Amino acid sequence: MILITGATGQYGNIVVNLLLRKGINKYQISGLGRDAEKASKLKDNGIRIVTGDYDNYASLVHAFNGIDKLLFVPGRDLDKRILQNGNVVKAAEEAGVNHFVYASLESKNETNSSPLWMIAEAHLRTEQLLRESGLTYTILKNNLYMDFIPDFIGKDVLQTGTIYLPAGAGKISTALRSDMAGAAAEVLTSTGHENKVYNITNIEAYSYLDIANYLSEISGKTINYISPAPEEFAETWKRAGVASRVIEITVGFAQAQAQGDLDRISQDLYRLLKRTPVSLKDYLRQFYLHQARQ
Ligand SMILES: NC(=O)c1ccc[n+]([C@@H]2O[C@H](COP(=O)([O-])OP(=O)(O)OC[C@H]3O[C@@H](n4cnc5c(N)ncnc54)[C@H](OP(=O)(O)O)[C@@H]3O)[C@@H](O)[C@H]2O)c1
Repeated sequence: MILITGATGQYGNIVVNLLLRKGINKYQISGLGRDAEKASKLKDNGIRIVTGDYDNYASLVHAFNGIDKLLFVPGRDLDKRILQNGNVVKAAEEAGVNHFVYASLESKNETNSSPLWMIAEAHLRTEQLLRESGLTYTILKNNLYMDFIPDFIGKDVLQTGTIYLPAGAGKISTALRSDMAGAAAEVLTSTGHENKVYNITNIEAYSYLDIANYLSEISGKTINYISPAPEEFAETWKRAGVASRVIEITVGFAQAQAQGDLDRISQDLYRLLKRTPVSLKDYLRQFYLHQARQ
């Protein structure tokens, strides 16, 4: 039995659907959700639904009973993540899970000097816990979901004409969430991934200047890139009413990119997908094409 946590979320739900598409019997797939009503929607797939909350250790041990492979997709509550992830790893050990697959974060700087430390710390502690546990594990270190790029540069960037982010000339090897979910589905359905760490990145990296130039090319409009100081950027977004956590995370990714932490090129995603991951250019063309034609 394979169990996917976060099955009500975007990444987890894609993994469930990919497992079904790979021919895994629906009775061999479980989806964990914390909200029984929300999770019940997954029943349309015919998979088994279990409820459990990362805050509730006993619920996790109960949910993980009889599970062979488990994909742990952490929650988004950064303040609770260290405790929650500890609960999940310990519960998997207690329940006797055979293989624990963890959706982590990819960034070259794994010290507390990382601009992404508020996100990275819990991931790194969880990776450490896994290494110290008796569990067989696979760690999928995910670079930024490409799906967030339009949020960072502006869904209306063809109208504003400016990408405004404190990322300097740094590049990012971002990949689509669905491609990253594809890597997880492959690990869950094939062998040879025991105690391996994969860097889930794209096979090319782009700066925001590259993105501005590409958007100019496909739209016929001039798109500029301005890289302000992080403080100036934060102040500008704050005045625009953006939530402080969103600003903090956006600055974190931009600064990590500026420092060269997010431009690693690994072939791991390519190998797991057995195809080229969707490129940023293809994604941007598809996302902005409709607007560019107007
Ligand atoms: N690499 C990246 O760029 C990137 C970006 C954003 C996030 N992430 C990470 O990747 C994860 C998956 O991304 P996503 O886009 O699929 O996020 P998402 O749609 O928000 O999914 C998160 C899932 O975690 C579940 N969850 C949250 N807290 C829980 C708890 N206490 N107990 C049990 N389940 C809980 C959610 O359940 P509910 O449906 O009940 O809320 C949901 O199913 C995120 O949670 C985050 O850790 C990575």
